[in-house]
Amino acid sequence: MQFKIQNLFSSKLNFLCLFFAISSITAIGQGLRTYATEAGLNFGTMATIQQFRPNPKGYKDTLSTQFNMTFPGNELKFKNVEKERGVFNFAYSDSVIAFAEAHGMKSRGHCLIWHSFSQNPAWLTDRWYGTNPWSRAELLSIMKTHITSVVSHYKGRISEWDVINEGIGIGDGHPNGLRKSPWQSIIGDDYIDSAFVYAHRADPTAYLYFNEYGGEGAIASEYAKRDTVYNLAKRLLARGIPIHGIGFEAHFGNYVNTGAISANMKKLGELGLRVSITELDMMNTTNLPNNWKNLMNACLENYNCTSFVTWGIDDKTSWMGSDCGCLIWDSTFVRKSAVYKVLSDAMKAANPNISAQRKAFAAQLPYPQTPLPKAATPTINYCQGETAVPLSVVGSKLRWYSTLTGNVYDLFAPTPSTKDVGTKSYFVSQTISGLESQRVEIKITVTAPTTWYQDLDGDGKGDQMVKLVACAQPTGYVKEASTGINDISSDNNLNVYPLPFKESVMIRLNNGDNQIVGVRILNLSGVTVEQNDEVNKSFISVGAGLSKGVYIALITTSNKTYSTRIVKL
Ligand code: G3I
Repeated sequence: MQFKIQNLFSSKLNFLCLFFAISSITAIGQGLRTYATEAGLNFGTMATIQQFRPNPKGYKDTLSTQFNMTFPGNELKFKNVEKERGVFNFAYSDSVIAFAEAHGMKSRGHCLIWHSFSQNPAWLTDRWYGTNPWSRAELLSIMKTHITSVVSHYKGRISEWDVINEGIGIGDGHPNGLRKSPWQSIIGDDYIDSAFVYAHRADPTAYLYFNEYGGEGAIASEYAKRDTVYNLAKRLLARGIPIHGIGFEAHFGNYVNTGAISANMKKLGELGLRVSITELDMMNTTNLPNNWKNLMNACLENYNCTSFVTWGIDDKTSWMGSDCGCLIWDSTFVRKSAVYKVLSDAMKAANPNISAQRKAFAAQLPYPQTPLPKAATPTINYCQGETAVPLSVVGSKLRWYSTLTGNVYDLFAPTPSTKDVGTKSYFVSQTISGLESQRVEIKITVTAPTTWYQDLDGDGKGDQMVKLVACAQPTGYVKEASTGINDISSDNNLNVYPLPFKESVMIRLNNGDNQIVGVRILNLSGVTVEQNDEVNKSFISVGAGLSKGVYIALITTSNKTYSTRIVKL
């Protein structure tokens, strides 16, 4: 009996679910959401938890029936999500994303890296300035952890991310127009590159955006910013950075040149980039529905304009305040019929060819889908007597496997910034079997920084951090100085060493009773090319003057003559 009641209950529940599903489909069928979906457009709005939780009358229904995209407006910001270093709190953002998923809506991720002092946690901003600021490596690591954790948490669930928010600062005096934020000042310009790479690695299916205000091209005084964003995107693309779109925040005043905005969208489209209108508020919309219409049309006429997102639903909860009249619903949560109508009409009249193009474009996977490029092997032919490419980047160190000595040298931590460009000397020390310590100089030339990311493929090793060019083709270095001819090593008294990275060969007699009395070096034709008959010491360096070739050295001690082979480069 109990079983039957449960069945009855569950079938009633199913019926109710079906009923609500059908009624919500009906409601969707009459809303902006339907027209947008037909045009292949994400028509979205942000929802903060303050708006979401108290659920003003009809808020959630309006959200799910009129929009096909929603996301947390504040709850994914660094300050809210990683208030304590390394401790992540997704409670609030999860609830909005879950709502979106339950209603078949897409989501945006806003935002990963922002300079805003008040929107980053104190533990982070405390060391942005002052006497103990973060080092480049520390801040990169903080950025990597944050981006990787947040993007991974929503892997496959958030379709587009604002990776860098408001990174342009036209007045800051940076030659490329970048904002001189702590991220830029401490890490360098390539913080942008790294941020995109970290995000792409965490979710290769997400579209990654540079989100900016005033870069839309809405008014002439902002054209410089518009062009700065464009040029930045072009440079990032040229370096293979996985950037897929530009966010037009679109906090607009009364006058908006939508023709210029459309042209800007088109230009960005020619770079292969998407454009999302990400935070739209339109001042005095009640009086100016044409601004809405024209902006919507600007988006609809560009297949690469894939999202049209307002910064909230209603004027009452707008960050601009009710007086702005900035949104589609008024402060009593009644929709503004004139605005609603122009938006519906524009979407209904969308050119079906462009809509089809938009759908196809939007379905393309974010590039690159193949693993991100790794650096070519550093170009270095010979260096200080080496015959093979001896350099690699391991962790944060440039490592030299010496083919000459068989040893490994961790030389320095290359940084992907211009400061390492040029030829520099580095010093390594080498102890030869307890004999002596050599401090030798090697010269390495680092070319322009093709060098924006560290640990690109997540294998724990740095990639493409420096490009090394050949040292001068060496001649005169000792490649080999070995025993092996006439078995001179059998009494273990004589050692012959190629001094690392030097022109000479060290010969040392170990037994202390005898002395080396003479050394003669012959070429392979038997001609003596170097001779010293009055050594009278237990050690000697020979061969410094020899040119490239193979030689035989005859070493005479007080009671014996040894021979060895010397190869010079
Ligand atoms: O949640 C607290 C609440 O507990 C507290 O009582 C109250 C007291 O001030 O503050 C509340 O938090 C505020 C939050 O908005 C929620 O209303 C923050 O102080 C306030 O700083 C925060 O402002 C947000 C602002 O970004 C900074 O994050 C705005 O809502 C949000 O609309 C605005 O959005 C930005 C975009 O992220 C980037 N582009 C510009 C846009 C507008 O400024």
